[in-house]
Parts: sequence; C-alpha cells; structure tokens
Amino acid sequence: MSIAEKFVSMEYGPALEDSKEATVWLERHGFRFQHFIGGQWRAPVAREYFDTVDPSNGEKLASVAQGSAADIDVAVKAAREASSGWRALTPHVRSRYLYAIARQVQKHSRLLAVLETMDNGKPIRESRDIDIPLVARHFYYHAGWAQLLNQEFPDYVPCGVVGQIIPWNFPLLMLAWKIAPALATGNTVVLKPAEFTPLTALAFAGICQEAGLPSGVVNIVTGDGATGEALVKNPDVDKIAFTGSTEVGRAIRGATASSHKRLSLELGGKSPFIVFEDADLDSTVEGLVDGIWFNQGQVCCAGSRLLMQESIAEKLIGKIQDRMSTLRVGAPLDKAIDVGAIVSQVQLDRIRKLVDQGVADGASCWQAEFAQPARGFYYPPTLLSNVHPTSIVAQQEIFGPVLATMTFRTPAEAVELANNTVYGLAACVWSESINVALHVAAQLKAGVVWVNCTNLFDASCGFGGYRESGYGREGGREGLLEYLEPAWFKTAPTLPADNTAPPAAAQLTGDVDSGDVDNVDGAKSIDRTVKLYIGGKQARPDSGYSMEVRSPDGRLLGEAPLGNRKDIRNAVEAARKAGSWTKATAHNRAQVLYYCAENLAQRQVEIAHRLAEVVGEKQAADEVDLSIQRIFSYAAWADKFDGAVHNPPFRNVAMAMKEAIGTVGMICPHEMPFLGFVSLVMPALALGNTVIAVPSEAYPLIAGDLYQLFDTSDLPGGAVNIVTGYVSQLLKPLAEHDDIDAIWCFADEASAASAKAMSIGNLKQVWTNEGRVIDWRNPKYAEGRWFLEHASQVKNIWVPYGE
Ligand code: NAI
Repeated sequence: MSIAEKFVSMEYGPALEDSKEATVWLERHGFRFQHFIGGQWRAPVAREYFDTVDPSNGEKLASVAQGSAADIDVAVKAAREASSGWRALTPHVRSRYLYAIARQVQKHSRLLAVLETMDNGKPIRESRDIDIPLVARHFYYHAGWAQLLNQEFPDYVPCGVVGQIIPWNFPLLMLAWKIAPALATGNTVVLKPAEFTPLTALAFAGICQEAGLPSGVVNIVTGDGATGEALVKNPDVDKIAFTGSTEVGRAIRGATASSHKRLSLELGGKSPFIVFEDADLDSTVEGLVDGIWFNQGQVCCAGSRLLMQESIAEKLIGKIQDRMSTLRVGAPLDKAIDVGAIVSQVQLDRIRKLVDQGVADGASCWQAEFAQPARGFYYPPTLLSNVHPTSIVAQQEIFGPVLATMTFRTPAEAVELANNTVYGLAACVWSESINVALHVAAQLKAGVVWVNCTNLFDASCGFGGYRESGYGREGGREGLLEYLEPAWFKTAPTLPADNTAPPAAAQLTGDVDSGDVDNVDGAKSIDRTVKLYIGGKQARPDSGYSMEVRSPDGRLLGEAPLGNRKDIRNAVEAARKAGSWTKATAHNRAQVLYYCAENLAQRQVEIAHRLAEVVGEKQAADEVDLSIQRIFSYAAWADKFDGAVHNPPFRNVAMAMKEAIGTVGMICPHEMPFLGFVSLVMPALALGNTVIAVPSEAYPLIAGDLYQLFDTSDLPGGAVNIVTGYVSQLLKPLAEHDDIDAIWCFADEASAASAKAMSIGNLKQVWTNEGRVIDWRNPKYAEGRWFLEHASQVKNIWVPYGE
C-alpha cells in the first residue's frame, strides 16, 4: 500500500479534550444549581429541580432549579432594585464592568468551551474556536458602546428591567448577544437559559461575581417554557428579548400585547444557499459544510435549502456527497470531530419525523455511512434531493444536519425560490461575478446575506430577521436601539381612552355619490364627499356606505366612505404592485416629496380653511404649515439615511443596507388629522415603503386634499392608499393581512394593544405610540431618525476580499 493510500485509509485515533476542569466545576457546585438572583445563589421557592444531560451519552450532568413564577418575581424585584444604581453609574464605570466580564470570559474560555460541549453536544472545535471567542468579542465590543453611550445616544434612556429568553443551540453566545447590549445601555436583566443547556449561563453567573458586577444587575433563573412564560407575563418587566422558535415568538407577541413591554424576536429560518454556475464549487462545498453541518445544523440561519443552477447541479451534488463521506460524526469532545450530538432525544425525534415526511413527499434521501455511537443522540449528515418547493422539508425549519436541494435556471428564478418562504433570516449567494451576487443579494428578503462565505458573525454587524424570522437586531448600533427609548417618550402622558371613538354625530348613510369632490359650497348642507384612494385612483367603498363628518358644533361638513375589509384588500394589492416606488432611487423619491411640499404650499390657505372647521383656525394653519416643513424634512432625509460599512475582524466587509420594510398599514393620529397623517406617511415613503393609511376619524375629509396632492406630485399610483372609516373596523383587516409587513398604530392605548394582538399571524412589525400623547408640532419628537428607523430594516451583506 502506498503512503498516499495509507493516508486516505488511516483511522483517526481519539483526541479527546480533557473534561476534568468542567467536572471539578460541577463537583464544586455539588452537581446541583440554584438560581442566581441579586448576586447570590437562591434555592427555588418550590424546591423543584430538573436534570440536564450530556447529549453525547444521555448521562445526567447536574440538577438545575426549576423556576416558578415566584422565583421570577424575586428575580425581577432584584433587577428593579439594582436598576437605578446601575443606570446612574457613569458610562465609563459601566464600560469597565463589561470589559472585566470580557476578560473573565477569556480567562475561563477552556472551562466554558468544554462545559458548552458537554451540555449541548456541539463539537469542541466549534465551542472553543467560534462560540467562546465570539462571546468575549461581544462583551469587548459593548464595553466600547457603554463608554460612548452618552455621546452617541444623548436623548435616550434604558428600557429598565429586561427579560431575556434564549435557546439551546448557542447557549453562551445567545446569552452574550442579549446581556452585553442590555448592560451597556444601562438596563438590568433577568435571563432564562434553555432547559437543555443551562450550565454555561450558570458559569457566567460566577463570572459576574468575579467581575464584581453590582448585585441584581444580572439574574439567571433556570427552568422550562413555563418559567419563560412567567417572565414574559411579569408586569414589572419593561422589555422582552427572545430567541427561539417562531411558534413561541408568536405566543410571546400575544402575551405582551396589552402591556407596554418592548419586544424583540429572533426566530426561525429556512435560509437559501444559492449557487450559480460560475461559483468556485470546491469553496462552495466547504461553505456548505459550515452552512448546514455546523452545530449539527441546529442553527437558525443554517443554509438548509440548497438552490443550484441546473447546469452544475449534478456535479455539485457529487462533490457534496464526496465531502459528506469525509465528515466525522461522533463524541463532541473529540477534537477531530466535525459533527457532534443532537441536543436532545426530542430534537432527534423531530428531525427523524421531518425527514420521513420529506421522503413521503417525494424527496430522495442520501446519507453518508457513519458509525452510530452506542449511546447518545446522533443523526448523520443528510442530503434530500428532488425536493418540491412546497414540501415540508423545503418550508419548515428542521434544525438538524439536513440539506434540501432544488434547482433553478435564471437569477430571477433563484430569487423567487429563495424568497418562497415565510422566513427571512439569512441567505448565501455563491458566484464569482460580484455583480450577479450583489444584484441577487439586494433582492433577497433576509437580514443577512453572505456572498461567497457563510455563517460569519460579529458583534459590530446587526443580526436579525425579516418577515416571520422576527424583528429587531442583535449587534451593531441598531442592536443597541432595541434596549433604549427616547427619554421623552417614556414619560409622555396617555391619550384619553375614547381618542379614536367615532365622533358622536357620525352616522351611517346610504351610498351618497355626490360626485364633485372639489365643490366647496357653504350653501349646501353637504359640501364635500370624498372617496377612497386606491392604486392612484379614487374608489367607491365596497360597503356603499359613508360616514358623516361634522364640526364640533354639529354642522355637517361632508361625507367620507366607510371602508371595510375588501377595501383594505384592494389597497394592499395596489400597494404591492407599486414596486416602482421601492425601486426608485433615493434622489427620485426626494424629488417627489419636494414636489408634494411645493404643491401643498400652493394650496395651503384653501386646505387650512377646510381643516379649520374641525380643529379651529390656529391649529389648521399650524398643521398645514408644519406639514410643508415636515415633507421637506423627509425629502431631505430620503437620500441621507444611509447604511454603514462594517469591518469585522475577518477579511470581509459587511455592508449594512437600510431597506424599506415593505407595505406599512397605518392608523393615523386622531388629534391632528393633517399633520399626523403627514408625520407618519412621509418617513415611510421617503425610504421606499408603500402605505395604506387610515386617516383620522375626526376629519377623514383630508383624503380629498391628499389625493389631489399626490396625483399632482408624480407619486406613482399605489405608493399611498387612503382608506377612510372607523379604526374599530379597519385595524383588524390591516393587522391581520399577511401581505402587510408592518403596522403603525397611533391611537389610544386599547387600539395599540389590539394592533399588537392582531398582528401575530405573520408576525408583522408593530410600532405604536403606546396610547401616549405625541406633540406632533415639535420636530424634536415628531420627526427624524426615530421614525426613519421604524420605517427601515438593516440587511448586512458580507463580502470577502483577498485571494
Ligand atoms: P423553543 O422556542 O420552545 O425554546 C426557546 C426558549 O424559549 C427556551 O428557553 C424555552 O424554555 C423558552 N420557551 C418555551 N416556551 C415558552 C413560552 N411559552 N414563553 C416563554 N418562553 C418559552 O424551542 P424548542 O422547543 O427548544 O425547539 C423547537 C424548535 O424551535 C426547534 O426544532 C427549532 O426548529 C426551533 N428553534 C429555533 C431557534 C432559533 O434560534 N431560531 C432556537 C431553538 C429552537
């Protein structure tokens, strides 16, 4: 046998990482862990414990406290008590604590890596070289933000007490992603680790003690979903940050709807891995190994759908199978292992079931031979080909080492297939043509796109999803904003409860189609009848009914259509077709907005005159005048709200692009009909969103002035659609519509709660005034970045450089 042959057939000997240090640590705690609350270990109130096991052999590692609502209460109290002291510290002092934590993480990196691998089953190579270094990096990066906080975010305050719930796939890394930005911005924390993997969070509690972190700033309560639910429902928590399944994300959205809790959700994914025929196929295969077999595929952004250009599909599949045959599955503590153990029996069963369903749907299943270890939870790298785009394995997150493959012919088809999912977390594009890659990247609905690379993460680059992959970002400047609120907003007074109630005098009338929209004739009792504005055209309401609009002294001013679900549906369809607005250049959008302002200025007196009937002369004059200024502001912003280019510590640039969210449904403020409408619609338009707006019930007749304005300002049909009617009837179809990507509800507290509760279907982003008063006159509160940030989402496109 030649040396070359021997080299190929040679068996690897075991190269086990020593677990002694971790065992000593477990022993020191008596293999039994309590909660970490107020800087101390505290026994669970109900004295209940559960086991955490080593997935590589199914053996118990330790018992861990099962948190109850009572434990959560104690932890939240501790966090609340620590809150004022922690936020009163200077940024520099907070920065030093974060720096100290980063140093301790590095000091204990070996213990943390081994413990993570024992508790989770991931290969030691990954926990040692990826998870733990990224944890340290996250604390260093945020130590920097803590230092700069007051200079960079002068008008912001922390949310307060933050509840954080994390999954089991990257236990310590997810903890770092949550705790580092929360502490840097002056929040205190109650964190619940996943029930399968609580150990490194408990080790982290020790690190907080070593770093001298003030008691109560970080509290760790262990337990299962019920413990998480108790944290979500605790009334003294100001914000919930969650990473986990979309199903639980939905439940949390529902459970927090009637509170003022801020919410960020990082949920599931079914990320496309797109390979063009000009890609470097060997690099692509290595990328795929990291894309789907990293962490046994239990990665929310795993490249689990391989989309191959037809011409190279066969060749690529051959290369993938060859490479799969060399992947070593086995004991995770073995340094020469590529694929470790699945986290739990439940997860293993879930993977098996989904693969079986995929095969039943017609997929062909290929697995490399592997020596199944006698004990533990293992699943081999798996390739499913001939997968139909509608099959369960193409649509549902498997969260295992399973790749589903499909083919495409053209870039357009690749984009269509890639976006054919309810998720939008990540995507990979492999092509030697940077033009093709970036053109495709721009069209993908995903928070992260890796060009010719995969699964790269850095604290400086925001991570998070589009669509049902959740909202909010972790990392980067945008990640900090999830833990901060404008100082004025937290203390703004609440609007009266009946803020959106129909005016007492409003009544339904039959279909009064009195035609002449512009006819201002004081002699007639009804001087004005407006229509809906859909797809750039005036439209009659489906119901055939109108609402009477009266002045405060009861005079009939006119009639506005009573829009219903069908009208909303038509408006959404029109908004979806107005792609030219989203694709228009920022300069073009700015020009259209300037033109709107110019046209409004020409009709200022006439519009203010009509508005005065409802809000009085002074307010009407102010509203129109300030609207002109506001439109100018957003015309100015349209080509200046730029993204960023990050320099993560690899040979990559990550371009953080600010993209439109899509179609936004809006309930406009009641109290300032014209200025309120303009203040919401214009920032959304400036960044290329399309809008369906419900104007104030107090004076929906502004619709007539607005559509004339839009018609004469070159705004493409469908970019703005106006549906008049009652909020109580229109909010639901808006919030429930699956083709609306975000809902902005600026009304009373009850409407804000309804908007959140009703939007759980497609997990659309919800932004409300929380029922609070906003001084629409004051640009400090009513325009600018706060609005633009809600009108956009960040997509990070990673591009490697160098040979
Ligand atoms: P999960 O979403 O149930 O668990 C994540 C965390 O949420 C855990 O800490 C859990 O205790 C907690 N939790 C569960 N129910 C809760 C509730 N009602 N309120 C508050 N917290 C709650 O995920 P699970 O069951 O561990 O995995 C199921 C599937 O979810 C996986 O197969 C995978 O597809 C997906 N998943 C996705 C993750 C991601 O990062 N996108 C992470 C973990 C799971």
